[in-house]
Amino acid sequence: MTRVLSCIQPTGVVHLGNHLGALRNWVSGQHEADVFHGIVDLHALTVTDTPGVLGRQTLELAAMLFAVGLDPDVATVFVQSHIHEHSELAWIMECTVSFGELSRMTQFKDKSAKREADFVSAGLFTYPALQAADIVLYDAEEVPVGDDQRQHIEITRDIAIRFNHRFGDTLVIPKAVHPAAGARVMDLQDPAAKMSKSASSDLGIVYLTDDNSAIERKFKRAVTDSEGVVRFDRDSKPGVSNLLEILAACTGGNPSDLAGHYQQYGPLKADTGAAVIALIEPIRTRYNELLQDPAELARLLAKGNDRARAVASQTLARVHSAIGLLPRA
Ligand code: TYM
Repeated sequence: MTRVLSCIQPTGVVHLGNHLGALRNWVSGQHEADVFHGIVDLHALTVTDTPGVLGRQTLELAAMLFAVGLDPDVATVFVQSHIHEHSELAWIMECTVSFGELSRMTQFKDKSAKREADFVSAGLFTYPALQAADIVLYDAEEVPVGDDQRQHIEITRDIAIRFNHRFGDTLVIPKAVHPAAGARVMDLQDPAAKMSKSASSDLGIVYLTDDNSAIERKFKRAVTDSEGVVRFDRDSKPGVSNLLEILAACTGGNPSDLAGHYQQYGPLKADTGAAVIALIEPIRTRYNELLQDPAELARLLAKGNDRARAVASQTLARVHSAIGLLPRA
């Protein structure tokens, strides 16, 4: 059975980009593969330093992962900081990646530039080594992610290949898997930028907790262009193309074919909003129900952590032995 792993940071409410680019595919893949999904709270530490926030957000994210349809009996949902092997292997991965490789990561350049006068931690720089550890710890063959994670999976492959070259065949080399539609959902107000929790205005982001009228409003106000022609062309018509791609991702259609059904932007916006509401409404209801029982969420996470640790500890032992560290007496 194929081993699949993918993770998400508990840095705020899950948005439509997370769902279409990643979570939805985690759910659809859970019955065909052996799947591991982590809530990566240690990664979130690179940008969060307010005491007490991460724990609450981890529990909320767990509720969301089960609400979108991950089945705790089938999928292994775990918390990164509860499995110490992640941090331990991350150090070894740091020693297997070069300063130059990390310096070329666009996410580091973007995030550190955005933080301007803020504290830019060394963790933000070495982030890809921890992500590589997350992936190789589970012998993951496939990593279902949105388009923005391409470079992170590439560097993971490079690190794993280098490790195997140095110490012998030890790590599985993973590959990224992206959805046909929805791999790069753009901000509704700024279709040149990806939909992201760090955007300046909430109007461009559709959260999975948004109520129906908020979703309708956000699509109605979505930025398009002044040409007045519905056509799928990401470069010259980013706003309209983003709507078509979201509609395609929700309905299973093809963005270019869907364009042929519309003469005006208004009906395209209305239909896309309606398709997103149909997708999100049941998730929101289930999320609110699950949040009522934090003890049950903690129990489900503990179950996932046990399963995750069983795999992670074996991989770390294999890595130590491949390197030839002195075995514990
Ligand atoms: P994160 O938490 O930013 O996002 C979680 C997932 O959502 C996808 N995504 C998007 N997809 C389409 N359109 C968008 N606008 C959009 N925004 C986000 C992301 O591609 C991701 O799949 N570094 C990772 C977390 C991570 C990880 C891992 C992922 C840590 N370790 C190991 C995979 C494997 C991140 O920050 O994702």
